[in-house]
Amino acid sequence: MKFTKTIEVKNIFNKISYKYDFLNNLLSFGLHRLWKRKLVNLLEPSNGEDWADLCCGTGDLAFLISERVSPMGSITGIDSAEDILNIAKKKSDLKKNKFIKWEIQDVLEINNYAKNFDGICMSYGLRNLNNVEEGIKKVFYLLKDKGRAGFLDFNHSTKNSLSNIFQKIYLRLIVVTISRFFNLGPEYAYIEKSISNFPKKNELINIAKEVGFKKAEYRTILGGQMGILILTK
Ligand SMILES: C[S@@+](CC[C@H](N)C(=O)[O-])C[C@H]1O[C@@H](n2cnc3c(N)ncnc32)[C@H](O)[C@@H]1O
Repeated sequence: MKFTKTIEVKNIFNKISYKYDFLNNLLSFGLHRLWKRKLVNLLEPSNGEDWADLCCGTGDLAFLISERVSPMGSITGIDSAEDILNIAKKKSDLKKNKFIKWEIQDVLEINNYAKNFDGICMSYGLRNLNNVEEGIKKVFYLLKDKGRAGFLDFNHSTKNSLSNIFQKIYLRLIVVTISRFFNLGPEYAYIEKSISNFPKKNELINIAKEVGFKKAEYRTILGGQMGILILTK
């Protein structure tokens, strides 16, 4: 049986799909592109390697990785929401990129591809999974030995810290206010709730180590607004 959160999240992303890229650019002032590039630079994918972009959405990371691993490697973008994945496919067609393989699948339900990937990336996906630990376990299962994984997401900073207060103000006054103009207020209000249920940096590192990752590092971006978790199997 599907978890309620899984269905709720899928509905949210299907609903916002048509405005997803536009609002991402607007609400992050274009910065999400720099952070995604930073994540890919830290992971150093190289030609010939096999990669997966989990919770790929409209495919930003998959497109960046495809530039690095082609022509000898592979990149598979996986997402559970059909409408947002269709946008990724359309972008591929426009860019005439036939290299990326797109798959509709719930990340937590992937049961093929064991030890298949040299690298896995996920941006703004882990926080949305029904269970973060199960997500990290799945990544471990999918990676080859010595494989690496990188996650970019909002950083869950300490309550009442300056960064936490700034994040709340930004999410409530900018993100929700602007998204209301597109009738997507409740969908974007979900971000704050999801951050409050997301493990903090030390908790993420502990989960990863318990799952079996040999190395786990976390770095914050933009004064603690975002965070990147890098894992090595
Ligand atoms: C905030 S978007 C991020 C999209 C893209 N990675 C980016 O950074 O622009 C989160 C994505 O995760 C997907 N997602 C959430 N839960 C998922 C799951 N259990 N399995 C696969 N995809 C999932 C959603 O459909 C959505 O496309």
